[in-house]
Formats: sequence, C-alpha cells, structure tokens
Amino acid sequence: MKRNYLVLLCCLLTTACVLGQTPSKGQLNIIPEPVSISTSEGTFTLSAQTKIAYDNVPKTDPLISYVVTYLEKYTGFKNLQTKNAKGNNVVVFSLNKKKNKTLGNEGYTLSIMPHRVVVAANTTTGLFYGFQTLYQLMPMEIITHHQNEIALPCAEITDYPRFEWRGNHMDCVRHFFSIDYIKKHLDMLAVYKINKFHWHLTDEQGWRPQIDKYPLLTEIGAWRVDRENEPWEKITPPKEGEKATYGGFYTKAEMKDIVKYAAERHIDVIPEIEFPGHCSAILAAYPEYACDDEHYYVQPGDYWPPKAILCAGNDKTLVFLKDVLTEIAEIFPYEYIHVGGDEAYKDNWKICPKCQKRIKELQLKNEEELQGWMVEEIEKFLNAKGKKIIGWDELLDGKVTPTATIMSWRGTKGGIAAAKRGNTVIMSPNRFCYYDYYQGNRRFQPEAIGGFVSLKKAYEFDPIPDDLTPEEGAFVKGGQANLWAEFIKTPEHMEYMLLPRICALSECVWSEKAHKNWNHFRDKIDEHKKRIGAMGYNYCKGSFAPIATVDTLTQNRYRITLDNEVKNTIMYYTISGQTTSPVLYTQPFEVPKNCTVKAITLYKGEWQEEPTVIEVK
Ligand code: ACM
Ligand code: ZN
Repeated sequence: MKRNYLVLLCCLLTTACVLGQTPSKGQLNIIPEPVSISTSEGTFTLSAQTKIAYDNVPKTDPLISYVVTYLEKYTGFKNLQTKNAKGNNVVVFSLNKKKNKTLGNEGYTLSIMPHRVVVAANTTTGLFYGFQTLYQLMPMEIITHHQNEIALPCAEITDYPRFEWRGNHMDCVRHFFSIDYIKKHLDMLAVYKINKFHWHLTDEQGWRPQIDKYPLLTEIGAWRVDRENEPWEKITPPKEGEKATYGGFYTKAEMKDIVKYAAERHIDVIPEIEFPGHCSAILAAYPEYACDDEHYYVQPGDYWPPKAILCAGNDKTLVFLKDVLTEIAEIFPYEYIHVGGDEAYKDNWKICPKCQKRIKELQLKNEEELQGWMVEEIEKFLNAKGKKIIGWDELLDGKVTPTATIMSWRGTKGGIAAAKRGNTVIMSPNRFCYYDYYQGNRRFQPEAIGGFVSLKKAYEFDPIPDDLTPEEGAFVKGGQANLWAEFIKTPEHMEYMLLPRICALSECVWSEKAHKNWNHFRDKIDEHKKRIGAMGYNYCKGSFAPIATVDTLTQNRYRITLDNEVKNTIMYYTISGQTTSPVLYTQPFEVPKNCTVKAITLYKGEWQEEPTVIEVK
C-alpha cells in the first residue's frame, strides 16, 4: 500500500521534480557535441522523393553507397535517387573545392534549410561525419516505425574534432568474437565518430591472426581447453593431453575484410601483437622461442601472473617476430602497429643464460632495458617498412626510443612522463577508460573484472591531464576506451559494456573541452540509449544509485546534494533521527553532524537498486 501511494505521489510530481531538462533552443541531441550549432525556424522534410546528390565526390568513393544504404536502412525509403546537386528537396554532400582551414581533415559543415540540406567538408571523412550528425537529427522513432516524411530542424552546424585519436580497443583473445560481430561493433563506433579500432589479437589464451609462415600459431595457438563453465579467476590449468576446443582465428581474407569495412567507416585498424610477455599461445605452438627451449611446455590458457616470456637472448626469436610482423604489416595498411609490452614478467630472463649474455654484451642495466632493446629492434624493423609502433606504458620502464607512441593505461602517470619526454601519447587510463570495469552497483550488473567506470566517470575523462603544459599536452594524440574480454563472452555482453559509455568517450575526445556539460550529456544520452536499442544493440540502462555530494557549511552543518546518472529519475531520502518516512528530493538539504542519510531512486514506478548510504561525520 505504502509503495503504491509513493508511486502515485511520484507520478503527480513527475513533471515538477524529474532530473534533467529537454535541450533548450540552440541545443540539439547530437553526440559528440558539435563545435557550433545555430538553429532557426523551420524544417527540411526528408521523404522517399528527396534526392541525394554529390558534388565533387569521386564516383567510386564508398561514401556514396554508405549514405544510401544506411539512409534506406534507417528510414525504410526504397531506391533513393542520386542526382546532381541542383534544385530543391535535395541532400547534397559537397567536397570543398577550396579548403576550409577551420575544418581540417575530419570536420564538416551541415546546413539544414527548408528546401535543401548541404553537408560540406574538405575530405570524404568530414562528409561521413556530417552524415552521422544528420542521422542523429532524425527522430529515433523512424528506425522502428518508418514514416513517410521526416522533419529535420533547420540548423547551421560547424564541427571538427579536438583529438585525432578517438579509439576503441577490443580483446578478441580472452573470448573470440566473430567477423560479423566485429562489423556490427564498427558500425556503432562510426555513429559516434570513433576512428581507431585497436584489435587485441594475441595473448596467453589464444593467437588469432593467420600467419602463413608459422601455421602452428593458429593450428595450436588459437585453441584452448574449454573451461567456460569455470569462474575466470579460478580456471583449472589445462592438463597435458586434454583436447583444446575453445577459440578460433581470423584468416587473412577475414582480417582484410575488416580493414576494408572499417576504412569505409573512416576507422583505422591497429593490430596488437604482444611481446615479449602474454605469449603462452605462441610458446604452445613454438616452444623453441622460450628461454628454456629444450624443456618448455605450455598450452594456451589463462595464467596469472603470466610468466611466459619470449627469449630475448635467442636471435631466432627476433627472426620469428619480424616474420610475423612482416605478414601483419601486409594485412593492415594503417601506419601503426601495437606491440603490447605490458605485464612482461621477467623471472625467466633472470635465469636464462642467453638473456643474461645479451644483457652483458649490450651493456644493459637490467631486464627492463633488455625489453627496451628488443622493442627498439622491432621498431627499427617496422620503421623500415613505413610503420610506427605503439606500446603500453610499461615501455617506459626500459629505455624507450623517442619515436615510440605510449598508450597510458596504468592511470595517467605513464602518459604524463612520456609527453614530458616528447613521446607521442594516447591516454587510456583504466580509471576512466576501462570499459571491462563495472558501470553500476555490482550487485545489479553482470559479473565484470572489477573496478568501477560509471557513465559519469567515463564522461569525466580528459585526455590532457592538468599536469601538462600546453606544449607537453600537444604530444597527446587522443584517448581510447578498452574492452578486455575476460568476463565478456557474447556479442550482447560486449555491446552492453560498450554502450552507452562509448558515447561518453566520443564527447571526451571529439568535443571542445569547454562544450562538455554533464547535465546536457545526461539528457542527450537518455534519447541515445533508446536509439541504440532501436538499432538492435544491447546497452546498459544505467547506474541508478543516487550520487551524493556533501558540502561542509559549518562545523556541525552539512549540505547534501543528490544527483543521478539517469534522466527522469525521482529520489527519496531519509535522515536518521529526523525523518519518519522517505522525503521526496527536490533540492539540496541540510543535515547535522553524526547522522546517516539514505537515498534511493524511483524510475518509471520501480525502485532501483538499493539505497546509497551517506555517513555524515
Ligand atoms: C593492460 O591492461 N594490461 C594493458
Ligand atoms: Zn632467454
């Protein structure tokens, strides 16, 4: 009874009290937030009769089929006509004949007028992003309920990214993901203007890329004993002779297909080939590259700590790596290859005569510098092929070259140190960018590896830490969200961990810092979540726990402000010793010292999760 009464009360008060506002005039529901928007009266009506035109765009450019395919898919219109750019009722994609300096290589302008829409850019990448913005201005209802006419608000938009590196990493080793799923994943990255796909392809638990010269990498290394019914951190090590049936690999044709599919979406693919650690799958196939090469035996599987390491004292190991990377470089045209380098446990190097001999000969200080030497050898080899390397921030522990790009994951410390020495940096600090972490109260979320990166936390990410001067900050190329897959076994779960947090990353790496606004983003994301669902993706509904801020007013008085990550939530609270029943939260309230405040969320008539408890001391 009491619950029903509260629900009724809430319904009555909903309009007055819900958190979040609809966007005000001049604000449109676009993620990432564009650089400038100016709205005006009127609409453009998109219909089956609207012509799609291209001005100065090469006839063979994939943009042309992309735009028609996705417009038809989203709107249900059939056989949209491509015509010349003149006349009314036309959407024109126009490549600037004279470069617009402000827009750079990825920016665009979008003019929606009552009689025509013009997307203009210096490059087809800019036109592609202009299309994504245009798509976001179509009401999401059209995806599920096709309409004959779609009204687009008249507006002038100028937009370009803050950072050139807007990345998403996906681990296809801890669990294997199909080519079809990766394409679906890339489709969504494109919608939010993410332009780098970091493909984690090799690790302890499996080797995924087909390499002609070393067929055992996929014949043996791609498969592990199926322990999918055991908790990840307690997996029984594989026993000798047990059949390895879980896994898979990507053929060269499949990887090239992904590269092409990504390129059509203006996404570069960065393969990650790990060394010297995280290599049990390599050593299962080719134990001769281990330090103890006579007796070494391992199977692909989950080991912690991952002690397997390639022997840096054996010249053949370097030959092997160069051979593999030669084939990788032929498959992936983008200039960067990620060489891993994280969590390389060097116990074996310490007792390996070959590794110790190498340290002595090269007059290196220690095993960290041995890793640095190995990475440098590979870097020189790849540079000669026109490639550059990226490595995890552990590369800084040895002697890193000034030309290696550092991906900072253990917080921002590594990235800061690297930028100060003049290395290029990609920021991916786990506290903000590890999307394998929980995104809400873990009692209400699917099991994850740990940590906590809520949507709000993901939104707080700024790739350039305050510790860097503007000159040092210029070495930061951008940011990236990482999806490690120890606990992510299915496409549905991968989508759930990606969405909607990737929308937060998108705004952190594309939008001007001054234009970031959590309240506005929260309003926008409410609509985008529905849109993501309508497009056939799974997503996290949100973390509903009230977020409390406690401000000290005097020695004995505190002010409590409640907030919620989800729009249109209603919150109630109690104060120990003061309230006899839950009080509807409408504004910040004061409490004395030594009390307990409990706050809970109601959403669409349902109590959410469990109370947030604030001990005021
Ligand atoms: C990492 O998360 N080990 C790069
Ligand atoms: Zn060795």
